Amino acid sequence: MHKIISLAISLILFPIVNLDNFIYHIVTTPAEDSRYGVTINYHCAFPKSCIEYTTANDKEFKEAKTVSPQVELWSTRGIEKTSTTSTFYTKERYVCHVTLTSLKPNTQYIYRIIANAQISEVKSFKTASGKEKWNFVAFTDFQHYNNAVTHPLIQNMEEKFNPPLAICSGDMVDVAGFEQSWNWLLDNKVFSDIIFAASPGDHEFWADAINGKYPQYTEPHTYNHLFRFPQNGAKSSLNSSYYFYYNNVLFISLDMNNSNISKGERFNDQVEWFQKTLDHLRGTYRYIVVYEHKSIFGSSIIDSAVGKNIRPQWYPVFQKYNVDLVLSGHDHIYSRTYQLDGNQKSAKKKRGTYYLDMGSSGDKRRALDRSLTDEDTLHAKVIDLKGEKLSFAANIEVTKKEMKVSVYNQYMQLVDSFTIKAKR
Ligand SMILES: [Fe+2]
Repeated sequence: MHKIISLAISLILFPIVNLDNFIYHIVTTPAEDSRYGVTINYHCAFPKSCIEYTTANDKEFKEAKTVSPQVELWSTRGIEKTSTTSTFYTKERYVCHVTLTSLKPNTQYIYRIIANAQISEVKSFKTASGKEKWNFVAFTDFQHYNNAVTHPLIQNMEEKFNPPLAICSGDMVDVAGFEQSWNWLLDNKVFSDIIFAASPGDHEFWADAINGKYPQYTEPHTYNHLFRFPQNGAKSSLNSSYYFYYNNVLFISLDMNNSNISKGERFNDQVEWFQKTLDHLRGTYRYIVVYEHKSIFGSSIIDSAVGKNIRPQWYPVFQKYNVDLVLSGHDHIYSRTYQLDGNQKSAKKKRGTYYLDMGSSGDKRRALDRSLTDEDTLHAKVIDLKGEKLSFAANIEVTKKEMKVSVYNQYMQLVDSFTIKAKR
């Protein structure tokens, strides 16, 4: 009963918008350089639509510019292992995206979408200032459809910290092929005023149920048709691996593939791409923040293939490039390492990487295996989410000298904080 009441309250406070479903799944994603661009994504029932955008003080859209999106008529018909009952299958739609360019830095913009005399609600975003002092918020594993925690948690983080950018390290929904879960997550006012960037989790590869089973896609099909990210990633995982700048931070998304795969071509390609990219971009950023789904240094790794294959492949790469922070999820247990140089506690202030697995920004939680954490020399903090029914999100304050990470639970109590000193 308690769950039903809290769901009813969350629906009243955070109504799902666009019930008519003509223009829906509207999301603002980053362009490669957030000072001058963003990408606007949406699905539309009509082939012709346009986007009007202007600065936030032009509330009547009198000086708005109008742009047309790139359009793809799409459904999951013909896609491997897909469910024939999902609305992604039964309802063809026009998948639209447009990258706005030549925007003014440090400016609040508003936009709306017009199609067949329908006008969407007004959304907004703020371009990067180019300054060194700013903040962003991070989440992981929203996951369970209709959970009562996720939207209030995002709302509280936005109200308290007013971030221009939110990151999610995957498992945004539990079953990516089930469209209602995306309606629940994205068609909500908490996504109205923020630039959103995400890496795919293994659940972004889950097709909808077929005969009670959940087959896995080999590509994150629905993720790729909801979010257009910069097309600068590894060839075999274009759109799910990518990078972008927001001020002095270089953000890098990695694709850790579906639940059954932890090695192979996609991983190897991304290692190569990561190194080439960072060699090429050297000197253009102060911090590197990686977000990827599977926790390379989880406290009690629930997915043994991660420890066996992904950990040894990736920690030397992060060590080589002195990555500052790796955000992840997957284990549904909170764990945060010390600064690690390779796979050991760092002895030098300016060497090493913090690995932050926030566990859950929804209500899927796993119990902690304390027999593993007793011997633990890598983790500064491990928290059992399940026992306490906790969900987490982080605010990261960036300055020229340091990044301060503050982790909050859904009651907005501070549960952990640590500071990453600038290395460059
Ligand atoms: Fe998850």
